Amino acid sequence: MEEILQQLEADLAKAKTLPEVEQLRVKYLGRKGSITLLAKNTDFSRLSPDEKRSFGQRLNALKNRAEEAIQEAQQRLAQQGASLGMVWSGADLSLPSSDRRFGAMHPISLIQRELEEIFQGMGFRVLSGYEVETEYYNFDALNIPPDHPARDMQDTFWLDDGRLLRTHTSANQVRALERYGAPIRAIFPGRCFRNEAIDASHENTFYQLEGLLVDRDISVAHLIGVMKTLLSAVFHREVTVRLRPGFFPFVEPGFELDVQCLICGGNGCATCKRSGWIELIPCGLVHPRVLEFGRVDTRIFSGFAFGMGLTRMAMMKFGIPDIRLFNSGDIRFYEQFPVSM
Ligand code: PHE
Repeated sequence: MEEILQQLEADLAKAKTLPEVEQLRVKYLGRKGSITLLAKNTDFSRLSPDEKRSFGQRLNALKNRAEEAIQEAQQRLAQQGASLGMVWSGADLSLPSSDRRFGAMHPISLIQRELEEIFQGMGFRVLSGYEVETEYYNFDALNIPPDHPARDMQDTFWLDDGRLLRTHTSANQVRALERYGAPIRAIFPGRCFRNEAIDASHENTFYQLEGLLVDRDISVAHLIGVMKTLLSAVFHREVTVRLRPGFFPFVEPGFELDVQCLICGGNGCATCKRSGWIELIPCGLVHPRVLEFGRVDTRIFSGFAFGMGLTRMAMMKFGIPDIRLFNSGDIRFYEQFPVSM
């Protein structure tokens, strides 16, 4: 008996996995295991009552010690295995995990993705265009006259070869019309550049999302309808909008679309500068000259265009009070926009 126990302990010490321990349990304690057979093969009729009792006691002790040794080996391996993530460790899987870190997404990327999805749901395609543009697509084709101040060195980054960094995503309008013709529904999210001094509300690099819809019999009512649908989807509630006249050479009529302040509900607060309204989306009906530059037949087609600043949309959506946070590099800001899993 002593020998069997020593052998078992030596075997267990060599075992490296739980299945190996299970094999040893079968080998020693299973139906044909050596300890089981020891009991079975003993002819008890040849033993005296005293011998029977003492043999039985020793056999039971052997079994108990063998079982203990096997359990110890199982526990030892389960602990090692748990740290390797290999073997069921007995951990409570319903507990919340303690140290899982997911990445975060920049709020501009988040709002851009959300807007793309909403517009795709309304049948718009997502196009991208070029950050380095020609004067033609950025200005001329948009009916912006040659002497317009926007073309000035103070406002536009000009490249040595005469091209420029696009000052707005509107530069995509005529490109898209040339390429896809009418009818068309497209949005153009992207980075724009202006030669401006940076302060609390100005950046020289910023993000816009342009929209263009050209079809038969398009009116201001369609523009308002799409804008309201969009804003309700982004802000998850009915929003009140108003149009004010606004001037851009490439739309006629042109508007500034305001939303009733989502922070104070229109009562007046610091964010809306006490006015109750926030200027959110410049827009208008596409100027016939722009359609002509895009080779669209203006007797059949009309359309609307809008150009929203993604920064302002993100500030409204997430309640971000200061524009400088966006490019601050402050990890405590960015971490507040975790990627949802
Ligand atoms: N491109 C204009 C800007 O950057 C915005 C705009 C787009 C206005 C489309 C009207 C229509 O200010």
